[in-house]
This record gives sequence, structure tokens and C-alpha cells, in this order.
Amino acid sequence: MKQSQQPPPPLPPPFMFCNPNSKLFSLLSGFFLFGFGLALGTIVSFYINTIPFPLQTSQVSLISSSPPPSPSPPPPPPPPPPPLPPPPPPPLPSPPPPPPTLSSSKEHVGFKEFLHPMELMHDMTDEELLWRASMVPQIQEVPYRRVPKVAFMFLTRGPLAFAPLWDLFFRGNEGLYSIYIHSDPSFHESFPEDSLFHGRRIPSKGVQWGELSMMEAERRLLANALLDFSNQRFVLLSESCVPIFNFATIYAYLINSTFTYVEAYDDPGQTGRGRYNKRLRPYLKLQQWRKGSQWFEIDRTMATELISDSKYYQLFAKYCKPSCYVDEHYIPTYVNIKAWWRNSNRSVTWVDWSNGGAHPTLYWRTDVTVDLLTKMRMGSSCMYNGRKTRFCFLFARKFAPNSLERLMRFAHEILDFDS
Ligand SMILES: *[C@@H]1O[C@H](CO)[C@@H](O)[C@H](O)[C@H]1NC(C)=O
Ligand SMILES: *[C@@H]1O[C@H](CO)[C@@H](O)[C@H](O)[C@H]1NC(C)=O
Repeated sequence: MKQSQQPPPPLPPPFMFCNPNSKLFSLLSGFFLFGFGLALGTIVSFYINTIPFPLQTSQVSLISSSPPPSPSPPPPPPPPPPPLPPPPPPPLPSPPPPPPTLSSSKEHVGFKEFLHPMELMHDMTDEELLWRASMVPQIQEVPYRRVPKVAFMFLTRGPLAFAPLWDLFFRGNEGLYSIYIHSDPSFHESFPEDSLFHGRRIPSKGVQWGELSMMEAERRLLANALLDFSNQRFVLLSESCVPIFNFATIYAYLINSTFTYVEAYDDPGQTGRGRYNKRLRPYLKLQQWRKGSQWFEIDRTMATELISDSKYYQLFAKYCKPSCYVDEHYIPTYVNIKAWWRNSNRSVTWVDWSNGGAHPTLYWRTDVTVDLLTKMRMGSSCMYNGRKTRFCFLFARKFAPNSLERLMRFAHEILDFDS
């Protein structure tokens, strides 16, 4: 009958070639299974010992890196491994990924290129540049021989009239300095190939006197110079600045200094406190407001802090509009708030404001005399690393382009330039 259908008989277990109900056969099959398992185990263990499985190789390398535990009989020489099966054909639908571009020398960035970027031109936006430059290594020990450099940052409009004097100044001191130039984008003249200024221009934008664009240019110079990890001191110079000592003297003075040189003073008059905007309160108090020359000299720590500052920079951008002259107040005020204990409050760039006008004294050709240069070099009194000295200025301004020839003439006998 269809209703009393019996379940299908169970499938015969494997290796059961006779009547499964027989006691003799169950005994025999058990024995057979045991033998098969034994043979299988032997074969598998043989293969484990000879085929270099990844797991086994890692064990071998682990063992070989540690001393042998105890003397044991040498293992029999392993038989040659069986030939590897041919690799399976690659799956057709997915194409292989493009090979990495590491072998392409153009895109390859090694440690050396990372430490000392050779190409100054890049296509980073200011925002990207500042972010990248703000990075500071957290490991104090450097994995290379670091010779600290001084970054000479030239903020100029057009040509650099004193380039021949600077060239003379830098020659023979390669590896101890870096040059950066920020000039007006409309200026297209480039330096000759044999000039040390050749190829040292950074991506630049237009600058308006007394406006925020001036600060942006200064931060752009600092950020580009920070990309070179060997730059330790950063000096801002104009096209009318000249060095008044030789390179070795200036280098030692700056590298060994425990202070930064940002002029910062409290000017109670109209051109000082008078430029303070009350809307800066309570973020920035009148007592914190400082004035000073824009031609600063700072160390790497302060350079990083300055380009990373957003709080005070935003305040100055909003409340220090043109007649306030942001370049005369932002850095002096920032340093006075953030790092007053390591700032000298003075500048290392000589300038003469004694004429009482809106512009400092400009030195023309006939003004450049031994007396003038001597006065600039040793005619002042100041503190250096906590000690009183007459050696206060390393650079001087403002020189008219036509004074170059006389300065070159005095370079060796007065300014002690190496021949
Ligand atoms: C800095 O000062 C030390 C100690 O006086 C001196 O040995 C070293 O040469 C100086 N560094 C430079 C760059 O002159
Ligand atoms: C610089 O000025 C600040 C604030 O007026 C002052 O506290 C500091 O002692 C000055 N530093 C030096 C080296 O004179």
C-alpha cells in the first residue's frame, strides 16, 4: 500500500562492499578503516616535513633565530620537494591591478628628498602648505646627521639688487643655509644659473603694503622653509637689506642663540596702542598689544607655532585692517603672548628711524662709508644670551640699489667676508 511506505534504506557506508549486517564484515571494515587512516596519516606527515608550507617556514625562521635547545640527532636529508603544480590561470573577469609606481624615479620620494626638498615649486594651496609645514616629529633623536641651517627668506617685489653681495656672502658655506624668495607674481625675471638665488623662488602671490597679504606672504615663506627639516633659524629680509658680517659670524650668532629676535615694544602713542581695536577684547587685551619691525629672526619652534596659529591670526585679519599695519603688530603681539620669555624683544636688522618720518633713512651710494658700517656693526648695546654686548646687528637696511658697488668694495676689509 502507498500509505505504509517505508523510508528508503540507509545508504551503505563507504568501503562497505559486503553485507553490512554481518559481524565479520563490520570487524573487517573497522580494521580496514584503521589501516587506511594510518596510511593517510603517514603520507600527510611526510608532506608536512618536506613541502615548505608558509607556516612551517615561519617556524623554521623563528627557531633558527634562537639558539638550538639541545643536541638532537641530525634529521635525515629531506627528499627533493615534489614539483610545484603550475599556478592557476588568473581569473578572467578582473584585470590585474596597476603595478605600484615605486620604480618610477620621477615620483619616488626617498628619505633624502623628504628631508631636503630640492624643488621649491609645488601646487599646494596655502591651506595645504601650512598644514603640511605644521607637522613636528615626535621622535627627538634624528635618524641622520642633522647640520642645522639658517633659512634666509627674501620678501621682495621685483629684482634683488644686492644678489651679487649676498652671493659673495654665501659662497663656500653650502649646506649651512637655505634661500627662499617670495616676489610679486608679475615679476618674471629669473636669476642666472650660476647665482645661488637661481630656482629659489617659492609659489608667490601679490602683496599690498600694510595689508593681510603681507602676513600671508611671510607665513608662506616660513611654511616653505619649514619643509626642510634642517632649517633651524629663520630670518626675514627685504631687497634693501644687506649682511654686515661674514657668514660664519652670523651663522654662529644665530645657531647658538637661546633667544629669538622679534622686536616687540609697547608704544603708548597713536601708531602703537592707537591701532588697537577695542573689539579684540576680551581675546586680546590692550596690555598685550605690541609693535615692532616686521624683519624678524626666529627659531624652528616659533616658526611652527606662528604658521599654526589660527586664533590670533583670525583676530588680526578681522580687527587689524589696513591703517592698523598688521605686519607691525601681529608677530610682535603673538610672540609677546605665547613666548615672551624666549624673545629678546629686539631686531638683528639695523634701521635708522631718527629722521622722524614715515620711512627710515635710505642709504645712497655716497652714504656708504667705513664710519657708517662700523657704527652699524658695533655701535650699539644690547643683550646676547643674557650677557651685555655691542654686537647687536647682523643685517642692515635700507640701502638704495646704487650702493651695491661700494658695499662690494667694503665686503672684505670692513665686513670681513671670506675671500
Ligand atoms: C656654539 O657655541 C659652542 C660653545 O661655545 C661652540 O663650541 C660652537 O662652535 C658654537 N657653534 C657655532 C655654530 O659656532
Ligand atoms: C620682552 O618683553 C616682555 C614683555 O614686555 C618681557 O616680559 C621680557 O622680559 C622681555 N624680554 C627681554 C629679554 O627683555
